[in-house]
Amino acid sequence: MRGVVFDGKRTQVVDDLEIRDPGPGEVQVAISAAGLCHSDLSVVDGTIPFPVPVVLGHEGAGVVEAVGAGVGHVRPGDHVALSTLANCGTCAECDRGRPTMCRKAIGMPRQPFTRGGRPLYQFASNSAFAERTVVKAVQVVRIPKDIPLPSAALIGCGVLTGVGAVLNRARVDRGDTVLVIGTGGIGLNVLQGARIAGALKIVAVDANPAKEAVARRFGATHFLTSTEAVKDILPTGADHAFECVGRVELIRQAIDLLDRHGQAVLLGVPPATAEASFLVSSMYLDKSILGCRYGSSRPQRDIALYADLYREGRLLLDELVTRTYPVEDFEKAAQDAEGGRVARAVLTF
Ligand SMILES: NC(=O)c1ccc[n+]([C@@H]2O[C@H](COP(=O)([O-])OP(=O)(O)OC[C@H]3O[C@@H](n4cnc5c(N)ncnc54)[C@H](O)[C@@H]3O)[C@@H](O)[C@H]2O)c1
Ligand SMILES: [Zn+2]
Ligand SMILES: [Zn+2]
Repeated sequence: MRGVVFDGKRTQVVDDLEIRDPGPGEVQVAISAAGLCHSDLSVVDGTIPFPVPVVLGHEGAGVVEAVGAGVGHVRPGDHVALSTLANCGTCAECDRGRPTMCRKAIGMPRQPFTRGGRPLYQFASNSAFAERTVVKAVQVVRIPKDIPLPSAALIGCGVLTGVGAVLNRARVDRGDTVLVIGTGGIGLNVLQGARIAGALKIVAVDANPAKEAVARRFGATHFLTSTEAVKDILPTGADHAFECVGRVELIRQAIDLLDRHGQAVLLGVPPATAEASFLVSSMYLDKSILGCRYGSSRPQRDIALYADLYREGRLLLDELVTRTYPVEDFEKAAQDAEGGRVARAVLTF
């Protein structure tokens, strides 16, 4: 079968991947569509270290093909969106509703694929850039069949991360002010999360002026191409500032632009050894810096919620899918994503 493989040097679309059958507690899914998140590109450029060879992709939706022993919540033919959390479901973190913190799931990549007899790693416990993948049952969430699968695919990272960061981590409240730095697939979902939460002023900043229309469509009340003029719109600073690019100088700007009691939420992923600095004295006014993994999501609850909000017209998904590409055109999709020409590039199988 076809898939996108990174071998440590180059990325190629291959057609001789094999996947093992689902074992107990696992589900095999035929991927229909998968979004290209910046994190996939960060594996290729080394920003996110990951063992190779690896099958990329982690934002997908498709149709259940087979279930292993003990799986009862989905059956073959169901439409599903996939999460990246292969959490165990039984540890203390899982039990308290923090599957993103499961100690049995982070840093333990699996190898369900083979190519010419050699095993390949599964990126983000997911590998949605393959015709088929095998994931844990806990990662598979049934969605209504009337949601187009290219749109549903984007729930699995962009929406869970961006909207989740607003609702679960920052807990933005009605009337709050929000600053969003970077309006790619993640930032746009922070914008619509802030709109859903009832934020008053939502200021979007993106270096690419072409992002203005889509940022406003997703909820931005103001758009700027740098943070310089943010204080003209929010004179006392922002209640919540989200960094959605992954650059330490932007993290510093997010912190410097906080109002009293404000919080900076770090979503972007800089290189693994990057350090950032801030003025300690600026923090005394009850300010906070929050890390956020995957929107602090609980996928079974949150994916179902986002599917419902989409069907009510309150959460935008179709508008994120600027363009679809057959998987063979991965390079073109990556170039369009890097060049800022798309909200999300979506590969189809
Ligand atoms: N925390 C998490 O769980 C999580 C999950 C998914 C993605 N991420 C990370 O989030 C980041 C964003 O991902 P994405 O898929 O939205 O990326 P993207 O490439 O779609 O968007 C990045 C945006 O940042 C803008 N940008 C670049 N430099 C800028 C600057 N100096 N000032 C303002 N804007 C600038 C670009 O124009 C683009 O619109 C990445 O670092 C990714 O790895 C984190
Ligand atoms: Zn992602
Ligand atoms: Zn666990």
